[in-house]
Amino acid sequence: MKKILITGGAGFIGSHVVRLFVNKYPDYQIVNLDKLTYAGNLANLSDIENKPNYSFIKGDIVDAAFVNELFSQHKFNGVIHLAAESHVDRSISNPLEFVMTNVIGTVNLLNASKAYWFQHLNNEKTPLDFRFYHVSTDEVYGTLGETGMFTETTAYDPHSPYSASKASSDHFVRAYHDTFGLDTVISNCSNNYGSYHFPEKLIPLSIYNIKNNKPIPVYGKGENIRDWLFVEDHANAIDVIFHNAKAGTTYNIGGHNEWTNIDLIRLLCKIMDEKLQRPEGESAKLITFVKDRAGHDLRYAIDSSKLKNELGWTPSLQFEEGLEKTVDWFLSHQEWLNNVTSGDYKKYYNEQYVKR
Ligand SMILES: NC(=O)c1ccc[n+]([C@@H]2O[C@H](COP(=O)([O-])OP(=O)(O)OC[C@H]3O[C@@H](n4cnc5c(N)ncnc54)[C@H](O)[C@@H]3O)[C@@H](O)[C@H]2O)c1
Repeated sequence: MKKILITGGAGFIGSHVVRLFVNKYPDYQIVNLDKLTYAGNLANLSDIENKPNYSFIKGDIVDAAFVNELFSQHKFNGVIHLAAESHVDRSISNPLEFVMTNVIGTVNLLNASKAYWFQHLNNEKTPLDFRFYHVSTDEVYGTLGETGMFTETTAYDPHSPYSASKASSDHFVRAYHDTFGLDTVISNCSNNYGSYHFPEKLIPLSIYNIKNNKPIPVYGKGENIRDWLFVEDHANAIDVIFHNAKAGTTYNIGGHNEWTNIDLIRLLCKIMDEKLQRPEGESAKLITFVKDRAGHDLRYAIDSSKLKNELGWTPSLQFEEGLEKTVDWFLSHQEWLNNVTSGDYKKYYNEQYVKR
């Protein structure tokens, strides 16, 4: 029996990781710790909330006393850390919040893990079966020109307050391995898309706006390039790395799938025209170019060959297939989307659940 703490499990990627672990490992106890910020939605987990190997705890990783208490109550064998402030635009308007959650919150979890690990070593005289897995982003590497790819040895060069806070947390995780011998692993993943994606991000926002005949905002001329990965493939990669990586290692995760924002939006418009039975070209009329984001990185491209060669992971879906699946999910989950866009998910779901 293993007890795994997953932080940020009510968010987009975290909910997929929680679902995968709860269903795939019935002999593990999965504890989901989440503050339920605007991005946390327990409706994302309604299909597994009653499983016997799942439990939820509402809490803030910035609160060191709370985190320490949690570790003294539970005998965790591992932490998969996804809790974060994750939206670049929000980091530009409120950088400090990103420092608090992404940097201080991560260090609080590392401190609690270290104390717990050393206590076990002192008492039992054998090392604890324990791993700290930190989920990070390719944005820490900065931006690329027209060629080249990020590898695990690319120097960090973050440009937004979001990527700076994630880069900082990555450095702390490595420092706790190198200084204290804590078993840590980091993965840096490219942009994710798929079900339960909060509709402030490019793909779900565009799906929502196309469906509702609202303008589709595209930064600058839409020339920025992102490397997209289906979220369930990311969750599978996390599973493979968590169970098989050597302590102290880093893996890049990506799908070799680069798209300019404008080409991606055009493809999405085409799929939406078909799904909504609109004349071809109708949805693309909604494309509206807006002032570019400050410090907007031009291109991200991730080389994940280390993960493929060492641990055998490859993505399962082609982008066109994954995007169509994602559109189908959003069109058949109107209630989820309406509850999120209206804010009702807080009132009707999160509050009720937490009171139970
Ligand atoms: N979305 C992407 O494309 C992408 C790509 C690579 C890496 N990542 C990383 O993956 C992780 C998850 O990203 P996401 O897109 O699912 O984010 P998200 O914003 O959808 O979810 C974040 C979750 O963390 C919770 N949270 C925030 N602050 C907290 C705090 N102080 N204490 C406890 N919980 C808190 C939120 O309530 C939410 O449920 C992040 O660390 C992010 O940097 C994301």
